[in-house]
Amino acid sequence: MTTTETTPSPRRDQTSAMEPPLSDPLPLLRGFAVLRRLSGMYPPGHPTIAERLREMDDIVRQHLRTAPAIRIDIIHGDVHLDGVACRSDNQGTAQILHELVELGVHSIHIDRGVEPEELRAVGQFLWEMKEGTGGEPVETQLARRNVRHVSLGRLVALDTRWRAMEWPDAPEGQLDPAYRESLALAEQTFDTVGAGRALDLVTGRDLVELLIHKVARSSAALAQILAVKQYENLTYCHSVNVAMIGLLLGRRLGFDEPTTAALVEAALLHDIGKTRVPLEILKKPGALDRQERRTIEAHTRFGAEILAGVERVRPLTPTVALEHHRSVTGFGYPDLGDRAIPHPLTQIVSVADTYEAITGARSYRAAGLPQEACLILARLAGQQLNTALVKAFVSAVTFFPIGSLVRTSRNETGVVVRTNPADPLHPVLALLDEGLAAAVGEVDTASRDALGGYERHIVETLTAREDFDVTRFLPPEPPQV
Ligand SMILES: [Fe+2]
Ligand SMILES: [Fe+2]
Repeated sequence: MTTTETTPSPRRDQTSAMEPPLSDPLPLLRGFAVLRRLSGMYPPGHPTIAERLREMDDIVRQHLRTAPAIRIDIIHGDVHLDGVACRSDNQGTAQILHELVELGVHSIHIDRGVEPEELRAVGQFLWEMKEGTGGEPVETQLARRNVRHVSLGRLVALDTRWRAMEWPDAPEGQLDPAYRESLALAEQTFDTVGAGRALDLVTGRDLVELLIHKVARSSAALAQILAVKQYENLTYCHSVNVAMIGLLLGRRLGFDEPTTAALVEAALLHDIGKTRVPLEILKKPGALDRQERRTIEAHTRFGAEILAGVERVRPLTPTVALEHHRSVTGFGYPDLGDRAIPHPLTQIVSVADTYEAITGARSYRAAGLPQEACLILARLAGQQLNTALVKAFVSAVTFFPIGSLVRTSRNETGVVVRTNPADPLHPVLALLDEGLAAAVGEVDTASRDALGGYERHIVETLTAREDFDVTRFLPPEPPQV
């Protein structure tokens, strides 16, 4: 679906009195983008600014006539109005969204009662934001400018939910046995803490061992963890996956066993504070209000508190729980003052956390493909995430090893027979018939269509039946010379 957009019209006599309210948030976003630029060019009372403000005020009033608030969120490049996606492929829109996201603004919420002066102050603030927010929470800075009815938010994967689709909460289908066992142990650990009992570190330690010694050695489990996941994991599956991805990264960085164990433990328990966040908020349909967002953000402090109270927990585990939503540039939450930079172990967990959040289906969006996840990581590198760690992660992941059984976006099933070194996410497949009994041809998933897009992607790694003999489809070993 494409939303058509025209060049901004400065003529307010045509403001959309006839348009249905709450249909298109783009004029408003465009208004903020223009206002922002004008704030950098002209003094506050300048007629050009006043003109733009009148236009925006008209739009806002019209929307607020039928709704108590306007909630605009930018989620992975798509604009959502009150939790409903409004796609736009327009170049100009993409530019506006890009500008806002670059500033760290993923959501603009406007409540009834807003005055034009508040809109102007927001435009001015957005202009000044390019120099950074100085570490002070955005909310405090807006309040100081007397902005009471507009809030700007940063969207953090996993922590803000829009319910557009229902997903199961746990993986379905055949799972690697060690992975299944680790999920069961994690569920038990999180349930215990959720029920108000002390964290059972013995189970936690067993789990760390299981992950390091068994799950990490199973390529089927790794494929299930790294590939697209069609479920919305509340906390415990996410935690196991983040621990495993962290482990891959730790191995890549040459960590010794004690450091690896510390990393896996910290990753496993980074979101334990969510056990203190009411489930109705974690699973709330629709966008979160300010109070709910604050409650979710508190899972970092809750986690550190829970972990600091457990004897023999490794020293960095509470630190990672506290810091894992802070960026390498010293922003994020909770506010730790002085633009505090997270500990390197936290930075590793943040890369794993972000990757896991993107590849898992969420209530507000379909799961992202591994290559999309890598692109998003690359975009976040330097700002949110540590660039060297992102590079190490992307190169550590062999998504589709030879012999993997996979499904493509064209619903074909195939076995990976060759990898493309220049494009590791798009290997060559032997396509199989429906009964997975015979190869029906070979396809290079790296081939592009006339427009330059990929003809197909791999969407899933499948777990083969026990009697499935993959070697029948693989090329014979090259002759030994
Ligand atoms: Fe978190
Ligand atoms: Fe997380």
